[in-house]
Amino acid sequence: MAQKLHPNIECLRWIVGKWESFEVSGQYPTVKDFNFRETIDFESIGQPLINYSSIARNYETGAPMHLERGFLKIKPNTNEAALIASQNSGISTIEEGSVEEKVLSLETSSICRPSFAKQPFVTKFQRKYWLEEDVLNYEQHMETENTPLQKHLFVKYRRIE
Ligand code: HEM
Repeated sequence: MAQKLHPNIECLRWIVGKWESFEVSGQYPTVKDFNFRETIDFESIGQPLINYSSIARNYETGAPMHLERGFLKIKPNTNEAALIASQNSGISTIEEGSVEEKVLSLETSSICRPSFAKQPFVTKFQRKYWLEEDVLNYEQHMETENTPLQKHLFVKYRRIE
């Protein structure tokens, strides 16, 4: 039976659920190409927002690598979206964008970090999720203080819940 969602987040129904990566590529000009596995969860518990979490693990050993936790919101009666999130690397971000049909696009509007954060600092990133049939695609582009905006991640996920 279809889950009952708060009306404010009805436009995100297509992304609600738990997803597991089955094809990934990680890259950036300053690092060696890398592989990983990732599980992401866009969870609704009846509030007008989605609880978001991600855990990316080492492809071979399963050791945890990159983690994110956050909240995805929609401005009422619009298609404007905001993700408020924190990462285990030490940054917290506000990302804003929109939902158009089955595409969610976000770009950082604010990034903060502790005084002892590791460099290079991320100065901007963009995420895009889009659903094609039953595959959720994800692309992330990133800019740091040393490197202009370019692709860091591409992932295809299949639904597991
Ligand atoms: C919005 C999400 C992410 C941000 C902002 C981010 C940020 C960064 C930054 C700033 C670097 C260093 C680049 C440099 O030295 O020039 C980096 C490297 C790296 N990232 Fe990400 N990353 C994200 C997601 C992920 C995910 C999901 C993975 C999956 C495992 C990942 C794996 C790596 C790896 C393996 C490296 C290279 C090794 C290292 O420097 O630790 N990243 N990332």
